[in-house]
Order: sequence, then structure tokens, then C-alpha cells
Amino acid sequence: MLKSYLREKRELIDKNIEIYLNKLEYPTVIAEGMKYSVLNGGKRLRPILLLMILELYGKSLELGLPTAVAIELIHSYSLVHDDLPALDNDEYRRGKLTTHKKFGEAEAILIGDALLTHSFSIVTDETKDVSSDKLVKIIGKISRYSGVNGMIGGQMIDIESEKKLVSFDTLKYIHTNKTGKLIKLPVEIGTIICESSQDEFKALSKYAELIGLAFQIKDDILDIEGDFEKIGKPVGSDVELEKTTYPSLFGMEESKKILKSTIDQAKEVLNIFDKEKIENFILLAEYIGYREN
Ligand code: IPE
Ligand code: IPE
Ligand code: MG
Ligand code: MG
Ligand code: MG
Repeated sequence: MLKSYLREKRELIDKNIEIYLNKLEYPTVIAEGMKYSVLNGGKRLRPILLLMILELYGKSLELGLPTAVAIELIHSYSLVHDDLPALDNDEYRRGKLTTHKKFGEAEAILIGDALLTHSFSIVTDETKDVSSDKLVKIIGKISRYSGVNGMIGGQMIDIESEKKLVSFDTLKYIHTNKTGKLIKLPVEIGTIICESSQDEFKALSKYAELIGLAFQIKDDILDIEGDFEKIGKPVGSDVELEKTTYPSLFGMEESKKILKSTIDQAKEVLNIFDKEKIENFILLAEYIGYREN
């Protein structure tokens, strides 16, 4: 049931990504590169989370669709840059050549930059029926969670921690920021649009934090145990670069235990909502543990 829900939402997101990106024409390499990097079979977890919050509050999905697309563009930009030779130096992403392999390195840097910067204009130009006050809060949050105290901060410490034995606190910083923040972002933006109470905000934000951590622990595990055909990106990339990951710090068995307990906690924190309303949130937390891609 979750599977068909995710498929339906993914199709809606993909349709909207296409509508917005098809408005771009020139320079051709940037327009084509942006489409190549985004429209290539991503799971769309982050935009789907925003739509799930809107549904939880019975709001129209239209209110959040442009922002959901913008977040996916930022996520895709983070992957384009993450794969560059200067960072993880990976050649495959979502089962296809990485953007720099397909278009060249300078082009991939600019395609990534364009995805990031264009996302803000999608939020401001395409959103309807959301007040300017809320939009300012949304844009501020996108900037903070993507930037130095968010995804970029995590990416920097991730790189700095290669070939080193770092503390658990440092590993937590890396995961919380490089992955956690872009997963928390759509959930917290949903609470802005829906005007959640403080208690609801706290519960939803905690849920996002926990599934974000679980998501990256699972990503670390898949980097070792995954199947290239399914994950669509190279297996063993972290080991090759001597990254600090959950398996490198705790071993595989312990990492799986931590993953399970993180997911169990995520399933608990939404108990202030009616059970039937949070069914998909519970299923999604479980899915993060058993996903194969
Ligand atoms: C990959 O993210 C990068 C991480 C933060 C682990 P996803 O696993 O969500 O990648 P796509 O978007 O589905 O390709
Ligand atoms: C990257 O983490 C998270 C980003 C901010 C892009 P990883 O380097 O582990 O992501 P993958 O495994 O390449 O998708
Ligand atoms: Mg990386
Ligand atoms: Mg990587
Ligand atoms: Mg990884």
C-alpha cells in the first residue's frame, strides 16, 4: 500500500518538475543538464514528505508543490556536486552516468549551481495562496538547512573526516547535517504552511530527524551490502575513500541494531496524532529500514 502511495506521489512530483524545468531553454547545456540530473528516477523522498504533511492537515497539495520541487532540485544539486572528482568521485548515479561524466566537470559545477539558485525562484514565482510572511520563513529555512549550518556543513566535515578515525559526535554531526537537514526541511516547511501547534511541530521535527538519521545509516549499509543494479550508484565508494560511516565506526551488526532502534523511535514520536492519520508515516519509517535502493 505504501508502495502505490509513493508511486502516485512520485509521479505527481515528476510531472511538476518537468513543467518547471521545461520552461528553461538556454544555455542548452545547463537546461539539459538540469533535466538530466533531476529527471532520472530519484525516489523523491524529500518532496513526498512535504506532501504527506499537507495531507496530514487536509490541505491542498498545490500549496506545497513548487516548494517540494525546489527541495528536490536542491537535493539533486547536492548529488551532482557530491559525485564530482573533488568530492566522492563517482561515475554512476541513479543507474546512469553522473552529471560530470555526461556533461564535463565545469558544466556539472554550473548545472549544480543553477539547480540551487533556480529553486528559489520556483518557490517565489510558482507558489500560489501562501502568504508572503510564510514564504519568507520558508525561504529562510531552505537557505539555512542547505547551507553552512546544514547540508554543506555536513559535506565539509564528511570530506575532512576521510582517512581518519573520528569521534561518534563528529559522525553524528556529519549525518545530521549532510543528510538529516534536507529531510527535516520539507517536514518543517509543511508545518509552516499548515500552521502546526508547537507540540505538533516538535513531534514532526523529531520524526524527521530520526528518519533522516536512519536514512543515512541505511545508505552507509547499502554502500557495502547493496546491489549496483538496485542502488544505481557504485558499491564500496565509502570504503575506497575511507569515509567515516556507521559500519566503519561500529561494524555492520551494531549498525543494523542502531538502524532498527532509530526506526522504532521514529514510529513512537507521532503518537500525539490520531493513529489512522499517521499510518503512512509509520510505514515510511519502516520502509527506510528495508529499502534496497
Ligand atoms: C542519496 O539520497 C544521498 C543521501 C543523502 C544518502 P537518496 O537515496 O534520496 O537519492 P535519490 O534521490 O533517491 O537518488
Ligand atoms: C551525500 O552522502 C549526501 C549529500 C549531501 C549529497 P553520500 O556521499 O553518502 O551520498 P551517496 O551515497 O553518494 O548517494
Ligand atoms: Mg558524499
Ligand atoms: Mg557520495
Ligand atoms: Mg552514501
